[in-house]
Amino acid sequence: MEKTLQGLSAQTQYFLDLEDRHGAHNYHPLPVVLNKGAGVHLWDVDGKKYFDFLSGYSAVNQGHNHPAIVKAFIEQAQTLALTSRAFYNDALGEYEKYITALFGYDKVLPMNTGVEAVETGIKLCRRWGYKVKGIQEGKAKIIVCAENFHGRTSTVISFSTDPGSYADFGPYMPGFEVIAYNNIEALRTALQDPSVAGFLVEPIQGEAGVVVPDEGYLAQAAALCKQANVLFIADEIQTGLCRTGKLLACDHENVRPDILLLGKALSGGMLPVSAVLADDAIMLTIKPGEHGSTYGGNPIACRTAIAALQVLQDEKMADNAEKMGLLLRTELNKLQSPHISIVRGKGLLCAIVIQHPNKDAAMELCMAMKDRGLLAKPTHGDKIRFAPPLIITEQQIHEAVAIIKDALQVLA
Ligand SMILES: Cc1ncc(COP(=O)(O)O)c(C=O)c1O
Repeated sequence: MEKTLQGLSAQTQYFLDLEDRHGAHNYHPLPVVLNKGAGVHLWDVDGKKYFDFLSGYSAVNQGHNHPAIVKAFIEQAQTLALTSRAFYNDALGEYEKYITALFGYDKVLPMNTGVEAVETGIKLCRRWGYKVKGIQEGKAKIIVCAENFHGRTSTVISFSTDPGSYADFGPYMPGFEVIAYNNIEALRTALQDPSVAGFLVEPIQGEAGVVVPDEGYLAQAAALCKQANVLFIADEIQTGLCRTGKLLACDHENVRPDILLLGKALSGGMLPVSAVLADDAIMLTIKPGEHGSTYGGNPIACRTAIAALQVLQDEKMADNAEKMGLLLRTELNKLQSPHISIVRGKGLLCAIVIQHPNKDAAMELCMAMKDRGLLAKPTHGDKIRFAPPLIITEQQIHEAVAIIKDALQVLA
């Protein structure tokens, strides 16, 4: 096969050049061009097979092309794709019943991308703050955490602490207070302001490098919010849907968020589907015509989401995530690599922190893993997230760790 100077095939180079020339430069992908997926595996245009250790940023928890999810998607696409919410359709109500029963909430508001769920959660929280809590109009505040990642809209990047997300995109949306993550005293202090309507938090900070808070943090935070009459808003877009070994990461501490945000794996990777769940006292503060989305609650999304949620339960993916996550971290620790300073995570949301004088070491390791058949990506420089589909087997974990072990030699 013809290769370029960087060792890429001519085909691969062709697709890289195509994107470089015609697409915006808002991502920095690894130089691998994928054209097929199945289960925990991906294939590139040259036919090389990889373990997928990113799972579309946890959108593909159920594995690539899960047959039951694909079937639901195709059948609905062939029948009725979109009605808009100007009319009723026969899939939305069934989905609403299914998802509210599964998570135990009165109502769901369907959106598409994750950040739209976050935006909806923010609007809902502010509305509740004015209409129910009685906060003075225009003064509602939402507490958020440093190093958060909740998406890319101009409101959401307004409270990011990562200059890569917010720099030169101002002016910024007011009404957010940033406190330290995993710091209950900081939350206690911030909650003293009676204008606070909500606390928006990731149960584990995924993009920040899989930062797991101390045990008890979420439960204490939720209790403090309750005392202060403040809504506890959990962004489970990355941590939810069995990724961390339970249906929700909040379940590890028996916390029931007032507003629950879901996305990503809600469609098993088929199309953008997100959801906001809350009880009537909160959700019904938004009236007809006050919020929505053309594609939100479309029939394909509804049928696909029911299948995606059913598969998670039928195949006991939370249990497998718990077991395989433990095995993965145990095996990574056994490597005793001088270049891995930390192995952390919960369930199959894991990360390693690379320790090396070369600041590009994490990227170099990802390239070496790619060459050996495993795809993962650095996050925030020195951290590499390992988040394979939740259907991964014991044998596959051992094969993957052997690849990681071999790849670590490039850092010697
Ligand atoms: C915790 C969290 N919230 C929100 C989002 C945004 O989701 P989307 O990219 O679908 O808008 C992400 C995406 O990575 C996320 O990890």
